[in-house]
Amino acid sequence: MFQNDLLQGKTIFITGGGTGLGRSMGERFLELGAKLVIASRKIDTLEKSAAEMVEATGGEVLPIALDVRDYKAVEGALEKTLQHFGSVEILLNNAAGNFVSPTEALSHKAFDVITDIVLKGSYNTTLAFGKHWINSRQSARVLNIVTTYATTGSGYVVPSSIAKAGVQTLTRSLAVEWARYGITMNAIAPGPFPTDGAWDRLLPPGLEAKFVDRIPLKRVGEHIELANLASFLVSDQSQYINGEVITIDGGEWLKGAGEFNFLDVLSPAEWKAMELQVREANKK
Ligand code: HXC
Ligand code: NAP
Repeated sequence: MFQNDLLQGKTIFITGGGTGLGRSMGERFLELGAKLVIASRKIDTLEKSAAEMVEATGGEVLPIALDVRDYKAVEGALEKTLQHFGSVEILLNNAAGNFVSPTEALSHKAFDVITDIVLKGSYNTTLAFGKHWINSRQSARVLNIVTTYATTGSGYVVPSSIAKAGVQTLTRSLAVEWARYGITMNAIAPGPFPTDGAWDRLLPPGLEAKFVDRIPLKRVGEHIELANLASFLVSDQSQYINGEVITIDGGEWLKGAGEFNFLDVLSPAEWKAMELQVREANKK
């Protein structure tokens, strides 16, 4: 789909890049010639993933232990990146925390832990990297991973929902404000893509089929589909796309939104009966 050197000359900093979708996107970026920093809390996981990613692609990966909630630590991670690679061109805000729960069962700490990782974590990295890029007069690109319920809202994931909505607004706000510095910013809103991190915390046992049934394409997403979209959005080929939130969910959220989409349960015979009912009504 892409030229193998699409991301040559780019260093990409991925928060949460050692697991799940962050890792899949990172591996694709490496195949396309990028250099990578993967940063999250668990250095053992990062080091193991980095070694496997290097083995699989022959690329270069720097793992850095980082809690994105800590602004000073973010500045430190940026400094390490610059010392190692000389420059960084792209920031991918992918780290997140989430679990399903009735909202009234949450403590204020449970709210804090999710919103701190998702919203504070994203503005911490964006602010530190943005200041660096503006001071060094370097153009750059940011990609934020949100969710479709950042727009629609969703019960049972309320802290994640409000935090992702904040990240979406951050995307649209800074895409305009920082364009003058050559810093552009977009977001991807994925529907369900199986990862251990998400499935263990969000999918009650036995409900996977229900999850899939809601999706018009009748399947979950494949990591490579998201990784290719992300590759395009961090590449120079999409420079004029700025401030967009691109949904990749097989049509899931629109199905929930469209008034009559539930009629897909009707059989051909029921459709025939409905047609007769309408034609009779037209005669009145
Ligand atoms: C109610 C809960 C809870 C639960 C934790 N808490 N789990 N409350 N129901 N199921 C409460 C705790 O009791 C505590 O409050 C507070 O949350 C914070 O707890 P901590 O000890 O700080 O954290 P911990 O519970 O160990 O871990 C929470 C976490 C962890 C840090 C968020 O799950 C994590 O590391 N997540 C990272 C990976 C992840 O979540 N990936 C999924 C991303 S998927 P008290 O008051 O008791 O101290 C995604 C979108 C998917 O984002 C969309 C799919 C379509
Ligand atoms: P995941 O594997 O659990 O990824 C979350 C990552 O965030 C982990 O690597 C974790 O690493 C890191 N992280 C958590 N807290 C952190 C902190 N305080 N500081 C730094 N890093 C931290 O889950 P995933 O499914 O791949 O999710 C990746 C992204 O996609 C998230 O933004 C999620 O909201 C989004 N998303 C996923 C889906 C889906 O269906 N999977 C759908 C929509 C959106 P450590 O534990 O090492 O810190």
